[in-house]
Formats: sequence, C-alpha cells, structure tokens
Amino acid sequence: MSLDTQLEVSSATNTNRGWPGLIEAYRAYLPVTATTPVVTLHEGNTPLIPVPTISAEIGRGVKVYIKYDGLNPTGSFKDRGMTMAITKAREAGAKAVICASTGNTSAAAAAYALRAGMRSYVLIPDGYVALGKLGQALLYGAEVIAIKGNFDDALDIVRQMAVDYPVTLVNSVNPFRLEGQKTAAFELVDALGDAPDWLCIPVGNGGNITAYWMGFNQYKQHGKCQQLPKMMGFQAAGSAPLVSGIRVRNPETLATAIRIGNPVNWEKAIAAKDESGGEFNAVTDAEIIAAYRWLGSREGIFCEPASAASVAGLLKVKDRVPNNATVVCVLTGNGLKDPDTAIANSINPFKQGINADIDAVAAAMGF
Ligand code: F0G
Repeated sequence: MSLDTQLEVSSATNTNRGWPGLIEAYRAYLPVTATTPVVTLHEGNTPLIPVPTISAEIGRGVKVYIKYDGLNPTGSFKDRGMTMAITKAREAGAKAVICASTGNTSAAAAAYALRAGMRSYVLIPDGYVALGKLGQALLYGAEVIAIKGNFDDALDIVRQMAVDYPVTLVNSVNPFRLEGQKTAAFELVDALGDAPDWLCIPVGNGGNITAYWMGFNQYKQHGKCQQLPKMMGFQAAGSAPLVSGIRVRNPETLATAIRIGNPVNWEKAIAAKDESGGEFNAVTDAEIIAAYRWLGSREGIFCEPASAASVAGLLKVKDRVPNNATVVCVLTGNGLKDPDTAIANSINPFKQGINADIDAVAAAMGF
C-alpha cells in the first residue's frame, strides 16, 4: 500500500467513533486545509485530574488539577507539536527532519516522522537523556547522535544543519510546533468551562508556555472563555535563565528534560508571563523530587521529574494563590520515561532475593 493510500485509510478511520487526534478535533483553529496530509497518532484529549491532597495543602477553597500530558502516544506533550510539525513538513514535501533534544522531542519526532515515511535525525547531550526516551527514539528508527555538549550546543548545530542540508527543523523554533501545542489550552477550557485562574508549567526552552498562552488568547477571541490565566512558569534552580535573566552556560539539574541554559523562545516566554501578570520562579532539585514523590505516592500519578517542577512550584508559592482559585499544573511527560529516578527515589524499600516459599514471603511482608 502506498503512503498516500495509507494516509487516506487512516483519515477515513478517523471519522469513526473515538478521538480523531488534535488536528481533526481543532481543525478550525489550525493552519491546515482539506488537502493537508494529516500525520497523527491520535494525540491529545489527555485527562484533567483533580489532586485533592494538593488542594487540601493549599486550602482556602483552591482547586488544583493536573493536565496529564504524559498520556500522549509517545508519553509527552511533544506529540501535540509534532503532529502539526510533521504534517506540515510532509505537506511541503520534506524527506527528513532534524531536532536537538533532551529526549522527549526526539521520541516524538522519530515516531511521527516514521509514520510520514520520513527519516529523522536527533542530536542529544551524551549521558543526559533518560533511558526510556533514548529507547523510544532508537526503536522508532531515528538516527541518534549523542554529542559531547549540552542541549544548547545541540540546538545551535541543528539550526545550522537545517540551513545547510535538506532537513526540516522540528524544534520549537518551528512555528507549527507551537500551533499544535496550543491545543492543550483549548482542552483545558473545554473541560473546565473557562480558563483556569493559574496555569503552572515547567519551562525549558519556553515553547510550551508560549503555546498555551497563544491557545488561551485565541479561544478568548472566539468567545470560548471569559478570562485568561496567570502563566506561572517554573525552572530548575540550576537551569533558570528566565528567572535570573542571564543565560546559564553550564545548566545542571536532575530534571534533564529542562536542563537548558539558553531558551530559544526567550522573548515569547517573557511576553506570556508579562502579558498574563504571571511569574517565573525557580525550584530546587530537592523540591522537584518531593513533588514527584508526592504525586506518585499520594495521588497515583507518575510523571517525569521535569514535569513535577509545576507542582513543586505551586507548593512553593502556594500562599499567593487567590482564595477559591482554579489552578492547573501541567505534567508534561510520563514517569515511565525515567525509571531510574523512580527506583532511586521510591517510597518503599525494594525487597529482593527473598526465598520462593510462602513463609519467607510472609516474613518479608511483615506478617
Ligand atoms: N517538560 C518536559 C517533560 C520536557 O521534555 C520539556 C522540554 C519541557 C517540560 C519544557 O518545555 O522547552 O517548551 O519550555 N523538552 C525538550 C526536549 C527540550 O528536547 O524534549 P519547553
């Protein structure tokens, strides 16, 4: 079956019951036409989950929800941007895409490029990508190149490569990425009936906070929501250029997804923060891990460390949340991406080497 026939079959099945993917769902708000060849893994439509233990911790009638974007097909919010970026690359006849990545972008680029019949090339910082993400990119067939440098170095290289070679750049400097990612704001309004009062979000390159702000504004212009949220962005303390206002040459944090010292969407992220009356704040690795463990052990929600920065940040500034406010914390990536961090920070001891008999097992259980 030719690729075109496959895409036709896939778009025919999209009209069946079930979520059609975010391009079909929000077609009217996206730069696509009837003939655009949509490349989708049926991303989007992720759950909005109340987190009562966190609401109770803040008190004063505040209601906190998690937007669990780790439930996208490749396990992160990047799928929202990648369905658009790869669809538009395919429409333009691209044969190959390239990105720099701390892991999630590479997994999403690889998966969507594969479905579009394109090659994908990804540059990652050697030794600083969670194992699950690396495994995904490799299994989806990306050409993975680990460089002796950080994410910022990798991004400089791929930006130049996209000028010099026939490869389309799919980092968030590609405007179609943000177009796709803004649909998360639409989903929040569709679920809550209006925009939340606060949106708490981890910030690395500043693409996602920019995209949410675009989405809320676009929905407001169309009368879909009455208000706009305060955009509360949180960075890891060792990689917080938007908090300090100064580029960080050697960013460090265990939240490797946001280990970024020179955000490519710097001005746009600042604009989203300022226009919304929001803030950028830093959270330490210890605060990130505390929130990560809280979400796992008290709410049953498994995210990756970078994602927990949104909840760590909310807890840090909780006294400033207005009474009775509705707050959404975005969890950008799935905890399964990074099992090493989960095991190293688990709540219960892992009891290994127990004899395979009922008495030994009962004793290990404490009976
Ligand atoms: N959370 C996760 C899990 C991420 O992977 C990223 C970025 C962010 C938050 C920050 O989003 O850059 O739009 O401000 N990850 C990129 C990557 C850099 O390569 O996967 P941002």
